Amino acid sequence: MIELVPAGLPDAPVLAALHARCFEDSWSEKGFRQLMEATGVEATLAHDSGEPLGFILIRVAADECEILSLGVVTSRGQGTGSRLVERAAHRASERGARTMFLEVNVNNTAAKRLYEKLGFREAGRRGGYYRSCDSLADALILRRDLPIPAWESLDNSSSVKTERT
Ligand SMILES: CC(C)(COP(=O)(O)OP(=O)(O)OC[C@H]1O[C@@H](n2cnc3c(N)ncnc32)[C@H](O)[C@@H]1OP(=O)(O)O)[C@@H](O)C(=O)NCCC(=O)NCCS
Repeated sequence: MIELVPAGLPDAPVLAALHARCFEDSWSEKGFRQLMEATGVEATLAHDSGEPLGFILIRVAADECEILSLGVVTSRGQGTGSRLVERAAHRASERGARTMFLEVNVNNTAAKRLYEKLGFREAGRRGGYYRSCDSLADALILRRDLPIPAWESLDNSSSVKTERT
């Protein structure tokens, strides 16, 4: 069974190894460590019987959450990528984020479909943002609103009632 677990600094080598299997432009272990020490950054790993197979890295700042990276290396197409994004959205919403955004290569069909299915919509485009050996590709900026957590909307509705009475 695939489980999602919070990742910490000691997981930097695992995160870097997963990232390298997903992207040509891989991030180093040191890079992951530095990112994870930064304010508002958190990572989640997907495990199958203790074997890491996917990850997501997000940064929450004020009321915004950015997906910094997402990858699934095995058992693709079984909902793990979606679960990682939904869990990150839930965490971000609990921490006060009201929107979530990310950049995706315009040619990355699988990721674009995943995000579209999860309610992300195009909010902008950066021309020639991704460089591979001999070509440039645009980045799409995708965005989605996050729900206000139930406990917070309850708090707000009770304070409105109090003010009226
Ligand atoms: C993108 C990625 C994270 C998807 O992970 P996953 O676990 O396979 O995703 P899911 O199983 O949750 O798929 C969710 C939806 O994404 C879309 N999708 C996933 N893989 C797809 C593929 N190869 N082709 C087309 N659509 C695909 C489908 O709409 C799918 O829903 P469906 O199964 O109901 O059709 C994975 O392919 C990956 O790691 N790619 C390399 C790294 C990457 O591109 N990261 C994102 C950078 S922004």
